[in-house]
Amino acid sequence: MQEERAGAASAPREEGAAPSGEALRELQSRWEDCRDCPLAAGRTRVVFGEGNPRARVMLVGEGPGREEDRQGRPFVGAAGRLLDKILASVGFSRPEVFIANVVKCRPPENRAPREEESQACFPKLTEQIQAIKPQIIILLGATALRAFSGPAARITRDRGVWQEHLGAKVMPTFHPAALLRDPGKKRPVWEDMKAVRACYESLAEKEEER
Ligand code: URA
Repeated sequence: MQEERAGAASAPREEGAAPSGEALRELQSRWEDCRDCPLAAGRTRVVFGEGNPRARVMLVGEGPGREEDRQGRPFVGAAGRLLDKILASVGFSRPEVFIANVVKCRPPENRAPREEESQACFPKLTEQIQAIKPQIIILLGATALRAFSGPAARITRDRGVWQEHLGAKVMPTFHPAALLRDPGKKRPVWEDMKAVRACYESLAEKEEER
């Protein structure tokens, strides 16, 4: 796990403060040899996620691809480079946020994780969220949306609409890989990310007023 701190996103919290990276390191070492679902058989590494352990903004993708499996880091391929640009376009940097996936092991042939695989791994994502305590979670794509909202959720219909889960405001949007296939999705993602930025700033202002 790459652990860095930067900018306002790592400002000290008050009551209920997220712990330092220790809690995440403990989870990471607990899951290193996870065999909870059949994806374990095909992985090179468990891709835990990375970023600021006290991030106010967390992103949740689908699952590791070939390069992520090789390097043990999330979003390091083409979709990851686009994700970095999307973050930068609204003033966030990768070290400031925390990036994780619904499943932590690579599905074969880069297929989408099956619902039972997402469900098997979801308690881990929940533990990460409970340790980090982000104010905002961005769900990248249909797999992440369904993991939180159930199988009836539809990314095309539900993106751009705030939800609330595990004490965080949750914004579903398209996955960066979908933007690579269909540049027409760039505009809605930009709108969603602007809404995230505005929410982030209004939460920060409220904290300053206290
Ligand atoms: N796509 C994802 O959803 N997650 C990654 O880590 C990489 C690509």
